[in-house]
Amino acid sequence: MSAHRRLACLTELLSRWQPLWRPLPFQYSHLPWLDDFPALGEALLGLSEQDAVRLQDSPFHASPLDEWLPVAELGALVDLPILTAPPVSLPQAWGQHVGGRKWRQIEAFVEQVRLRPRESLVEWCAGKGHLARTLARRHAIDVTALEWQPTLCDEGRGLAQRQGVAVEMCQLDVLASPLAAPLTAQTHIVALHACGDLHVRLLENASETGSPVTLAPCCYHRTRDEVYRPLSRRARELCAAHRLAFSREDLAMSVQETVTAPGGVRRSRERASAWRLGFDDLQRQVRGIDTYLPLPSLAYGRMPEDFTGFCQWAAQQKGLSLPLGVDWAGFEEAGWQRQARVKRLELVRHLFRRPLEVWLALDRMMLLMESGFDAELGIFCDRALTPRNLLLRAARPGDRFIASA
Ligand SMILES: C[S@@+](CC[C@H](N)C(=O)[O-])C[C@H]1O[C@@H](n2cnc3c(N)ncnc32)[C@H](O)[C@@H]1O
Repeated sequence: MSAHRRLACLTELLSRWQPLWRPLPFQYSHLPWLDDFPALGEALLGLSEQDAVRLQDSPFHASPLDEWLPVAELGALVDLPILTAPPVSLPQAWGQHVGGRKWRQIEAFVEQVRLRPRESLVEWCAGKGHLARTLARRHAIDVTALEWQPTLCDEGRGLAQRQGVAVEMCQLDVLASPLAAPLTAQTHIVALHACGDLHVRLLENASETGSPVTLAPCCYHRTRDEVYRPLSRRARELCAAHRLAFSREDLAMSVQETVTAPGGVRRSRERASAWRLGFDDLQRQVRGIDTYLPLPSLAYGRMPEDFTGFCQWAAQQKGLSLPLGVDWAGFEEAGWQRQARVKRLELVRHLFRRPLEVWLALDRMMLLMESGFDAELGIFCDRALTPRNLLLRAARPGDRFIASA
């Protein structure tokens, strides 16, 4: 399927089903769309724990929701090509000082970088330059790593020096205009998990200079704009025609899938969610206002010991005084019941999560295509390694690739 067609179909489905995927179930004591789709609601709420967990992990496979929702169509639209690369195992020593999962992402990413003759390499938002060092070794060339934080640059310099690798850490703000690093049509820009506005700036620069790009985008919601401004002309036209606009909160949905957490972490997340929902019932009653009250997040390990302690913390955050004689056990039980409902109702959003992520990646691809690039979008590693496994590769037509060293 062409990228144009895929983007058009996704726009149509995201637009048509926005009343169902947009509302966040935990914010509602009664979700508005349940009145229009009572049978779908019943089917969701009747799901066993096992099926709910299975559909969280695999929303497009054997889903009972396909009676109401376009499950197969969405599944086909997010079925992107797997970008194959000859399997290589890089020397273990190259991965020193890099976390295990990050190293395996780098191994997978590096093989996707197709260098052409005379190209130089720049890593965008490089952190400590782990990817830059690996590319420098793999292709036996100098690499420039752009990074904003001086401490990361210092650490990156130290690592490159100790390992004898030709990486220049360049401390600069990639959002600054004009960019302090010269880019040309021969500068191949790579970025692994550069967030929102950071990778958008990369694409804008590349579309001006003609620099080839290998990018795994991430965190689309980290952006200055409250309302998403499509990058490509095509996406702008489609959004206008289908009256589709994404808020920053909508964009956050696109990256909400996480790698399945170990049992202990999952249980403590569920408890946190149940307590938040129990408190939500309580605060609605205390305030006499039937609306959701957002709470700040709590760092892992800072969770109070019990539900009562949690509600006292939450009330303090919101400047709310709690009455005496609260039925703590009753509100906690109500929280667990709502948590089970929310988990099932969230499955509708799960179904549209990857389609939104693919839509956003296609918009990025289309921007480059409209600037004269050949571009491809695919999957560069297994989802278990990182759910942010989309890779956009683009270059202006011309020279052939060279094999890596
Ligand atoms: C999500 S991390 C990715 C780091 C690395 N590519 C990786 O995969 O581990 C994003 C990096 O961008 C850097 N960064 C944030 N804002 C920046 C800016 N305006 N200019 C340059 N780098 C920036 C951060 O300091 C951070 O190291």
